[in-house]
Amino acid sequence: MSADNGEPAGFEAVWERAGAVEGWLTPEQGRKLFEAARTLDPGSTVVEIGSFRGRSTIVLASSAPAGTEVVAIDPHGGGDRGPQEIAPDAARGDADHAAFTGNLAAAGVSHRVRHVRKLSSGAFGDVVGDVDLLFVDGAHRLGPARDDIVRWGDRVGDTGTMLVHDAFSSVGVTLALLSTTALSRGWKYVGRVGSLAEYRRSELSFRDRLVDGARQASQLPWFARNLAIKCLIVARLGRLTRLLGHPGGWPY
Ligand SMILES: C[S@@+](CC[C@H](N)C(=O)[O-])C[C@H]1O[C@@H](n2cnc3c(N)ncnc32)[C@H](O)[C@@H]1O
Repeated sequence: MSADNGEPAGFEAVWERAGAVEGWLTPEQGRKLFEAARTLDPGSTVVEIGSFRGRSTIVLASSAPAGTEVVAIDPHGGGDRGPQEIAPDAARGDADHAAFTGNLAAAGVSHRVRHVRKLSSGAFGDVVGDVDLLFVDGAHRLGPARDDIVRWGDRVGDTGTMLVHDAFSSVGVTLALLSTTALSRGWKYVGRVGSLAEYRRSELSFRDRLVDGARQASQLPWFARNLAIKCLIVARLGRLTRLLGHPGGWPY
């Protein structure tokens, strides 16, 4: 699993480990993270906001070239953890931390990850210089999600990439994205794999900004579908989600 010899393992081998870790990232989204990290230049910096038990962290650490700094920021406080798990819960957070540490060790990537056990809003000083790949999957409420996209997004350098999970699926993350990246001069919306949206650092003309905003707005029907699915699940009518072509479970 180690990339220390400069030869990262293939995605299937990485996912065998990472996919076994509890989490919400789908295999297709794992592959997207894998490719984004694998193609970084040596010496790059990867920042992950929201590591949970290590599924995405293992993918990033296993695929990034040797010499890449992988910083995983997660307070492991048990709050803003998953669907409807908003309030902090120290015992739950400590269990996540123990599982995260054990999962990284089992995957052989502990030495490739620097874990910062803080809220993302308190961790700016823990990363020096530009970020080349930013993966945002921390608190999904509008305020903190917006803060991550704006303040950590500002740290992404000229050719950098930002990947955001639960885009056009969670209300908070979607509003945060639309209010910051849509029509922005500095981010180009590349596309999405399910709810994993990709943005590239760019210098967009006024016309390109309009086109980009329209492309993001065209994701809103999919967002509405996801909201309908979530409402049905919360109302214990999950079986009706098949009418929307959904195979089941929370939509990612
Ligand atoms: C959806 S989970 C992340 C899932 C993970 N990326 C994976 O692939 O399994 C959200 C995580 O964000 C963390 N979190 C919550 N608020 C945060 C904040 N303000 N800054 C950083 N992480 C936060 C939670 O502790 C939780 O572990």
